[in-house]
Amino acid sequence: MYISSLSLANFRNYTSEKIEFSPYTNVIYGDNAQGKTNILEAVYIFSQGRSHRAKSDKELIKFGEDFSRLSLDFHDSERDYTAAMQLMKNGRKNIKINHVQITKLSKLMNYLNVVMFSPEDLELVKGSPSARRKFIDSSVSQLYPRYLTSLIDYHKALGQKNSLLKVLRAKGAKSDMMLSVWNEQLAAEGEKIIKYRTDFVKLINNFSAAIQNEISGEKLQISYMPGMRASGDDKDSIYEYLEKNQRREIDLASAQVGVQRDDLHITINGSEAKIYGSQGQQRTSALSMKIAQADYIHHIKSEYPILLLDDIMSELDINRRMYLSQKIRDKQVLITSTDTDLIESTDNTKLFKIKNGSVVREEN
Ligand SMILES: Nc1ncnc2c1ncn2[C@@H]1O[C@H](COP(=O)(O)OP(=O)(O)OP(=O)(O)O)[C@@H](O)[C@H]1O
Ligand SMILES: [Mg+2]
Repeated sequence: MYISSLSLANFRNYTSEKIEFSPYTNVIYGDNAQGKTNILEAVYIFSQGRSHRAKSDKELIKFGEDFSRLSLDFHDSERDYTAAMQLMKNGRKNIKINHVQITKLSKLMNYLNVVMFSPEDLELVKGSPSARRKFIDSSVSQLYPRYLTSLIDYHKALGQKNSLLKVLRAKGAKSDMMLSVWNEQLAAEGEKIIKYRTDFVKLINNFSAAIQNEISGEKLQISYMPGMRASGDDKDSIYEYLEKNQRREIDLASAQVGVQRDDLHITINGSEAKIYGSQGQQRTSALSMKIAQADYIHHIKSEYPILLLDDIMSELDINRRMYLSQKIRDKQVLITSTDTDLIESTDNTKLFKIKNGSVVREEN
């Protein structure tokens, strides 16, 4: 899969710009704060429906303007797509793919597949469980809209349950019928979420172990660590376990168990990476996992996703940089950097120099 052109109007610091990409490596370079990441962000939005870094869509509209327009041409092995998006100051968002309006986020997700890789991802192994859940969720929901729907429904019910727990705590209640109703819903969605996550972790474990072995010869192992100790993965066992925790959850006025606490257990040569891994081992494992994320999408969909590498080369040592360079040579990547020397150029590489929200130079 590849993108051929991106148009931006009133997006971040861009007034009006059209960029034609190479189907291989695209290097987006320039000084700090000129608008390099803004380009990756624009592409990412078409895949995930929202920015990887903005809290609200309003931040994306150029200062002083009322709306922003973006359009993206992309292609997979079956057909060509034109996606268009309009973001309005009042918070409304309008997305069309091939002129057909998309009404639900879960409907947008499976058209364009991207993997974004930025320096924060190097913290994937040693960072908080939420980063690892985000890693799972963004991978799986790109391919399975029903997973995203379950996730959204689960979090809605969880929000309601948490509000109820606060009320029950204030009342000094010991149990509650309505709490069981939420638990039933959480168990039903939880069962589906666990199923998808289990399948994903098995694949990502295989792919990342192979990559880690190639980079460093180490044995990387990733396994699923459930956020509860239910007797089984089916909704009845989950429900029973959630119900057993009613008393404790009321006491603490918040949900303590469930898939919102899921994590990944990562070991290198048998010891837990978060605790015993060196800084370099942790970063290599994170790199392996991110490349594996792209391999996973390719495996399920038979389309390799577009890689968005934000300032990552300067964070990697020469060996890892070389490994990544050979891995992406025949794929489409958009790489931002302040320094073009770190990036391997081939005949297919296109370079874009960015200054103050404009492409000021383009070279093949
Ligand atoms: N809504 C907006 N309207 C106008 N300008 C904006 C808006 N949001 C961000 N900017 C500007 O965009 C620029 C930052 O863009 P971006 O994050 O793409 O920079 P960058 O080239 O990736 O820099 P770095 O190398 O530091 O990562 C800043 O100058 C910022 O003021
Ligand atoms: Mg940047």
